[in-house]
Amino acid sequence: MSIDQAAAPLTSGERHLAAPVATGLVVRIARPDEAPELSALALRSKGWWGYSASFLRACQAELTLTETEAARCVVVEVDGVVAGFHLLSESARADARDGDGEAVGELDMLFVDPPFIGGGVGRILFEDARRRAAAAGWARLQIEADPHSRTFYERLGAVQVGERLSRSIPGNSLPLFELTLRAPGGGRMVARATYWR
Ligand SMILES: CC(C)(COP(=O)(O)OP(=O)(O)OC[C@H]1O[C@@H](n2cnc3c(N)ncnc32)[C@H](O)[C@@H]1OP(=O)(O)O)[C@@H](O)C(=O)NCCC(=O)NCCS
Repeated sequence: MSIDQAAAPLTSGERHLAAPVATGLVVRIARPDEAPELSALALRSKGWWGYSASFLRACQAELTLTETEAARCVVVEVDGVVAGFHLLSESARADARDGDGEAVGELDMLFVDPPFIGGGVGRILFEDARRRAAAAGWARLQIEADPHSRTFYERLGAVQVGERLSRSIPGNSLPLFELTLRAPGGGRMVARATYWR
């Protein structure tokens, strides 16, 4: 898809017509050869917020997945159609380790394709990411979020802990959210997993 198409999101009316999704749900690891499809989905999804074509052009490199990254993505498929995906990684940032040296995870990407926005796919992806992050033994999950997605992350239990500079748009700050995966003292938090609304 072109940048101009991504910069022309669905209207709110179209969103509500398109939203209901309830059957044929599959959560699976993506294949390396899905990298172009997932990159295009990420661009369309970012465009949902109404950003200009030039803004999206500046984000495109950051939203383009390599085959290696695609193979680490988790996709949600609805009736055979990829509706969204997430990408997790262990944080390589020097400041991301806990005081006791525990590893911390990053939610590098979480994108829902516009026809599925508002239908619960984001929550499924987030809960899947939460479970995988906890299973990886990370103490916390950090999320450098698009400012428009603030309420979504807050609804799902993440808390803003600061800001980070955007890697795509010089001078732009992005809210940094965090999800605690392990209770202070080492016990594992019992996360409420919600699969569908
Ligand atoms: C943010 C995004 C992932 C949410 O996905 P979604 O499938 O629409 O979210 P869900 O339908 O699962 O909603 C989960 C909860 O968050 C709330 N929520 C989601 N988007 C919201 C919004 N824009 N404003 C307010 N609340 C929102 C929902 O109301 C729901 O809460 P409830 O179940 O208590 O009513 C999706 O809008 C998206 O992909 N946006 C564009 C790309 C983007 O910004 N991704 C995040 C990058 S950091």
